[in-house]
Amino acid sequence: MEVEEGVQEVGRDLAARLPRSRNPVRALDDRAMELSSQDAELRAALFRFVDVTPACRSLDDLARHLSSYLEGVEEKPPPLRAAMRMAESRAGRTALGAAAAAGVRHMAHRFIVGTTPEAAAGDLRSMWKDGIAASLDLLGEATVTQEEADRYAERCAHALDALAKTTAGLPERELLENDSLGPLPRANLSVKVSALTPMMRSEAPELGRDDAARRLRPLLRQARDLGAHLHVDMESVDSLETTFELVFDLLSEEEFRDGPSAGVVLQAYLRDSPAHLDRLLEWAQPAERRPPPVVRLVKGAYWDHEVVEARQHGWSPPVYTDKHECDRNFEALTRRLLDARPHVRVAIASHNLRSVAHAIAYNRATGGEDRDLELQVLRGLGDDLARALAATGMRVRAYCPVGELVAGMAYLVRRLLENTSNESFLHEQSRGVPIDELLVAP
Ligand code: FAD
Ligand code: 2OP
Repeated sequence: MEVEEGVQEVGRDLAARLPRSRNPVRALDDRAMELSSQDAELRAALFRFVDVTPACRSLDDLARHLSSYLEGVEEKPPPLRAAMRMAESRAGRTALGAAAAAGVRHMAHRFIVGTTPEAAAGDLRSMWKDGIAASLDLLGEATVTQEEADRYAERCAHALDALAKTTAGLPERELLENDSLGPLPRANLSVKVSALTPMMRSEAPELGRDDAARRLRPLLRQARDLGAHLHVDMESVDSLETTFELVFDLLSEEEFRDGPSAGVVLQAYLRDSPAHLDRLLEWAQPAERRPPPVVRLVKGAYWDHEVVEARQHGWSPPVYTDKHECDRNFEALTRRLLDARPHVRVAIASHNLRSVAHAIAYNRATGGEDRDLELQVLRGLGDDLARALAATGMRVRAYCPVGELVAGMAYLVRRLLENTSNESFLHEQSRGVPIDELLVAP
């Protein structure tokens, strides 16, 4: 069957399995969604807010920063004007802080599975029962001190142990535990390099690489001993070199030749991503690591950041600014990755039905087995899609953030920014764009 025919068939089948009454974008606070899709200045204020969140230590602190950024929004819609009036008095600020906290909590509950890995265990077990595996993500990023980075590494070590315990008691699930290359770990943890070191400098990537390596190495040993998978997330482009060097160098060390299972992320919104894939495959092919690295293909979560950062410096953005180009590149990279097996294992991470259906259809059209392709979603945004994929016999994994609200603010605002964009697939789907249009080739 032609790939395009397959995409339409798979896409329609998945769409028919999605509950009509539920709208994944509703996972984001409705009011915040509506306001920020309409107002570019408000989006910019939110964007600036994300940048300061790692330094905020309380919700009160967060509320103060938020209100100071909102001051810069010229045409304030009525709810914002009311909020700013409240911020003028101490009592008002307390009330505003409480209201903001309640709103944030409401939004956060959809995305964050628990404050600790132990608290998340029940959700992980019930997802597994429904045919959905997980990757745990410990909220917290962009650490500014060595002590914070040490604490993050300790939390990772604790999470690996907790995950090993939780997953040891799970019933067998062939599709989630094996592909044609062999066993897949049940325990899976995603980590962020900016949380493992405060020394990320794009002009001196070796500083961050060496500092992060001394915290990542023990985690890799622990993951190997526990039979767990460790996945290194990709963040903004200024940390890309550090991240690639860190992963390539550490996993090439003799002691990690036979494990643990580990992975990296490729961001299709980067114009240079085809060259990043060349580099990744050059490293993965001769290395003959057993098991091969997992490459998670994403579009990229830092689009607003990259565009604003580049504009501030007078550079041209490192990301595509035409969504169709980004989507076309995602499909081209999907095909290259699937063709590169068995040197890599492939995980396609997207909530976009077209992007997901394309991966499934291409894999089938080229003789691949369904079990040799993993689909991934974010908890809270892709829950319905995950269930639909599991029901069609595909392996699916949900990325599950764990931690405290304040640590999770940057993550939450990224979800808000990306899903209030008019070009977001979930936004279009929630506006009722017909399936024929949603499945059109980019
Ligand atoms: P779509 O709506 O199809 O795409 C939205 C994306 O398109 C935006 O996020 C942006 O990347 C891009 N975009 C938006 N506007 C434009 C434009 N005008 N021009 C060009 N491109 C544009 N992201 C990371 O950066 N690092 C990670 O490690 C990471 N891990 C993830 C793990 C999982 C399991 C999942 C599901 C996602 C992960 N992401 C990660 C997030 C991912 O990059 C996307 O932000 C998110 O999935 C939205 O993309 P989509 O395909 O679901 O939706
Ligand atoms: C993020 O933290 C999902 O890694 C992605 O936004």
